[in-house]
Amino acid sequence: MPLPETFIYNLKQSNPLDAVMASYSRLIKRGRNYVCLCPFHSEKTPSCTVYTDNGSFFCYGCQAGGDVITFTMKIENLDYIEAVKLLSERAGLTMPEEGAQTDSSRLKSRLLEINRAAARFYYDTLTQSAQGEKGRRYLAERGVSQNTLTKYGLGYAPGDWYSLANHLTKLGFAEFDLIDANVCGRGKNGGLYDRFRDRVIFPIIDLRGNVIAFGGRVIDDGEPKYLNTSDTPVFKKSRHLFSMNLAKKSTERRLILAEGYMDVIAVNQAGFPNVAATLGTAITREQANLIKRYADEVIIAYDSDKAGVNATQKAINLLGEAGVNARIIKLGDSKDPDEYIKRNGAIRFKQLLDKSDNALDYELNKCKAGLDISDASDKVEYLKRCVNILAGSSSSIEREVYISRLASENGVQKQTLAEQVNGIIRKRKKANEKREWDDIRISGALRTANGSPGLRQSTSSVYSNQTKAERGIIAYLAKNPEEAGAVSSKITSAYFATEFHRLIYEKILKSIKNSAEFDIMSLQSEFSADEMGKITEIVINNNNIANNKTVIEDFINILINRLSSDICAKDLSDDDFVNHIKNIGIRKQQKN
Ligand code: CTP
Ligand code: MN
Repeated sequence: MPLPETFIYNLKQSNPLDAVMASYSRLIKRGRNYVCLCPFHSEKTPSCTVYTDNGSFFCYGCQAGGDVITFTMKIENLDYIEAVKLLSERAGLTMPEEGAQTDSSRLKSRLLEINRAAARFYYDTLTQSAQGEKGRRYLAERGVSQNTLTKYGLGYAPGDWYSLANHLTKLGFAEFDLIDANVCGRGKNGGLYDRFRDRVIFPIIDLRGNVIAFGGRVIDDGEPKYLNTSDTPVFKKSRHLFSMNLAKKSTERRLILAEGYMDVIAVNQAGFPNVAATLGTAITREQANLIKRYADEVIIAYDSDKAGVNATQKAINLLGEAGVNARIIKLGDSKDPDEYIKRNGAIRFKQLLDKSDNALDYELNKCKAGLDISDASDKVEYLKRCVNILAGSSSSIEREVYISRLASENGVQKQTLAEQVNGIIRKRKKANEKREWDDIRISGALRTANGSPGLRQSTSSVYSNQTKAERGIIAYLAKNPEEAGAVSSKITSAYFATEFHRLIYEKILKSIKNSAEFDIMSLQSEFSADEMGKITEIVINNNNIANNKTVIEDFINILINRLSSDICAKDLSDDDFVNHIKNIGIRKQQKN
């Protein structure tokens, strides 16, 4: 049962796209519209536009696009109904009962229930059962307090293979759901077994307080050290951070980012609740954007080993792109924050945070690695590396300050360093422009080759006339739904050569027929977020012709001509064939 149009209309009115997007990316006013760095792909110059007159957005870099609902679906990884639900909550609207649940949202709520029950089971086992003694002793040895244990809802998974499976089946959960939740697997004999056995359990909780996954650590040595929930319909490890549910409550707008579960727990226990960790992978763009919503500054507290140093550089880059200021702490000879706090205490850790390096200092410091600056040729190498780093700073003031400092520290002319830096900036800019052009050409060529719906305005000449015409007609109907009758009496969907366009055309006609107020964005429920992006692009890039009746008539004729010159009229249904003949008739009359 679809949601009432008036509700969707109100929902959109109460959630202006620019207001919603502003919490994910910084919007810059450009005339009536806004531009921003696209929250869906990595970029340094804004290619995403927010159109305020019709509440749509489109990214020329990655072709994401749509309205506030598409945006929410994509950025929060939700299905249509869930996105509507979230926006309703945001605006304080009550969602109508009908249509509130889809199969997918029902599955998700079952999986969340399973996770909650499993977390409860692991927690009870840890805190109340005899088997839990092993886990209790392990956590105590690692200095985890009772309070911390409760705060994180830590648990213990018994060593046998069936405890959890038995428990959850008794509670009435279906076997296939337990497998979908990834807490159980199916054995060769067809029965269920527990995935987590004889491990300390770390529940992963999302920002809304749902248990979405688990990490399980072996007790003592064993492989793998950690076992984690694989991605499920309610969990994607690249989008979540461990302990972000607790960290987000802090008003500091400063987040400590660690690598491990145990580091986070140690830092939190030491009195710093604003700490989180990625889930065993390098930080992703999605995580950086999530952080941006709660913090302006991140203090990276990664392990001091080589992997940690590499991960730090990656985090600096991604956080920078997301508009988050990065600082880095030096753990000295401690391998991770957990060990540092054990050895030196919370006060020393606080001092470490306070004297953390900013990202540029950190990177410049790294330039010294393996060099002896008192040696002249090593110094040259060092300065070359530094110049390269400084050219990456987007702030001219920052560059100026650092160039001055570097010059005086190393006894060279400020002017000389500045020239070098500017030279590199110019070179990179040129290379970038060339790359962008190459991208445009390549994507254009690919599109003509496979006939897929094209994407960039600047390359519109690469479309065949047929494709241009199909796109134009779609855009025309989006703007002029009252013309649907006239257009559809001339061409049926069979006249569209591109499968995707044909589908859009069918859905538009159906939707116009069934609704009083047609809005192209109402196709939302019929197409994926990516497809909505393409549809938005078609509408936006055909804005100029969408009011031009004669051009549309030409377009219609292009479609009719192609079909009649294809002898494949035999593929048409009877109705389409009749229509087709009629249309050829119309054309002949026009020619006479
Ligand atoms: N990790 C993982 N799978 C592994 C090893 C590590 O998923 N086999 C992830 C976990 O999220 C872990 C993080 O990577 O927390 C960092 O790994 P590590 O430093 O080895 O773990 P710690 O949390 O420091 O754990 P411990 O102190 O118990 O060694
Ligand atoms: Mn560690």
